[in-house]
Amino acid sequence: MGLNEIRLGVNIDHVATVRNARGTSYPDPLMAAKIVKEAGGDGITAHLREDRRHIVDQDISRLKQQNVLPLNLEMAATDEMQKIALDVLPNAVCLVPEKREERTTEGGLNVSKKISSLRSFIEPIKQKDIRVSLFIEPSEKQIDAAKSIGADIIELHTGYFCDLYEKNDKNYIEVIKTIEKAAKYAYKLGLEVHAGHGLTTGSVGYISKIREIRELNIGHAIISDSIFMGLGGAIEIMKQKIKEARLYRVYE
Ligand code: PXP
Repeated sequence: MGLNEIRLGVNIDHVATVRNARGTSYPDPLMAAKIVKEAGGDGITAHLREDRRHIVDQDISRLKQQNVLPLNLEMAATDEMQKIALDVLPNAVCLVPEKREERTTEGGLNVSKKISSLRSFIEPIKQKDIRVSLFIEPSEKQIDAAKSIGADIIELHTGYFCDLYEKNDKNYIEVIKTIEKAAKYAYKLGLEVHAGHGLTTGSVGYISKIREIRELNIGHAIISDSIFMGLGGAIEIMKQKIKEARLYRVYE
């Protein structure tokens, strides 16, 4: 893969958030994965949280079984999640910090503080040929730590940049420079560089320009845009069904 190519991993957690809000079987994250593929997405990212607030275990097994696109399982570094990863065998796992009370992943993983525990945590996962990614802040200290424990990939946290960008706070320019410097540093060390969190159609261009970044993982903005971009179509189908029933009395 050349430096010009960049993959898009689509995070489908919030399809499950909508489903779980009503306890129905729809919208189905697996169907979302199929549409992601048809639309040219390169991978599926799903975060199995400890509290199962969106994606649940069955979603992960179905996504893996149907193998629509490579599966990147986001998870906390806990014994429970390690067991699931070794059982499901996703293409990659991305380790993220997780707090119960947070709304979404806040901040990157502090790898430098947990070198030996993370090294032993990822060992059996790597042995199963699952690629290991660490979601970290764009800092050389964290990148060095990721490299030293044997991670294959780092995913740079773009949340701070995106917050500033959304507030139109021009300090985002400095943050982009930090992300770019980190991406180049990690690339030179031989790590594959990904990025994600908070990216929108407005902010994604700044990150996409960084040649060393090979993959972006984007969820909330894509699922949000799909509500408006697809809402018209959903209403049209509903109206058509209503009209058809009136005209042809299909249920009599
Ligand atoms: N990458 C990681 C590691 C994440 O934790 C998340 C959020 O689950 C994303 C990417 C996607 O972020 P967003 O939903 O804000 O696009």
